[in-house]
Amino acid sequence: MAIRDILIIPDKKLRLVSEPIKSFDAPLRALVDDMFATMYEAPGIGLAAIQIGEPVRLITMDVAKKDDPKEPRVFINPEIVWSSDETSTYEEGCLSIPEYYEEVERPASVKVRYFDIDGKEQELTADGLLATCIQHEIDHINGVLFIDHISKLKRAMVMKKFTKAAKKGVAPSLAKDKEPSHHIG
Ligand code: NI
Repeated sequence: MAIRDILIIPDKKLRLVSEPIKSFDAPLRALVDDMFATMYEAPGIGLAAIQIGEPVRLITMDVAKKDDPKEPRVFINPEIVWSSDETSTYEEGCLSIPEYYEEVERPASVKVRYFDIDGKEQELTADGLLATCIQHEIDHINGVLFIDHISKLKRAMVMKKFTKAAKKGVAPSLAKDKEPSHHIG
């Protein structure tokens, strides 16, 4: 189990469309372990494999409150099969866009179909933070970032800031005192 580096924008890999997972084997379990270690360390409540440079349709998540028991979740090849007309707005952050937060409006509830770590098909209806997080992470495996849901002007400003930082070789770091729930993933 290893804590891996999280890719930061403007890393082009973050724009890749990830490939479906076909083998539910030991290397997959090892990758899932690395993702949980990396996600909890960040800290974040969700992580897509592409954020550690692995272009496969795999997501880890834990939306449990800070002092509650852990609720680790794994979604493999997830697909949103239904979303509500009702929407909700949440101030999102992303481990690949450190210390930038913006309100994003998304469907308030979604039904997601996915495979678990044993390769068994599952279905989950989610609302609240879990629904937001699932949509944020499924965006990642499709090469979409939460800043794609905000205004063009704001997005251009964020991209400029991070492109400048990358050129200087300065890696923007996360403030450790931030609540994990702020870093959707
Ligand atoms: Ni993210």
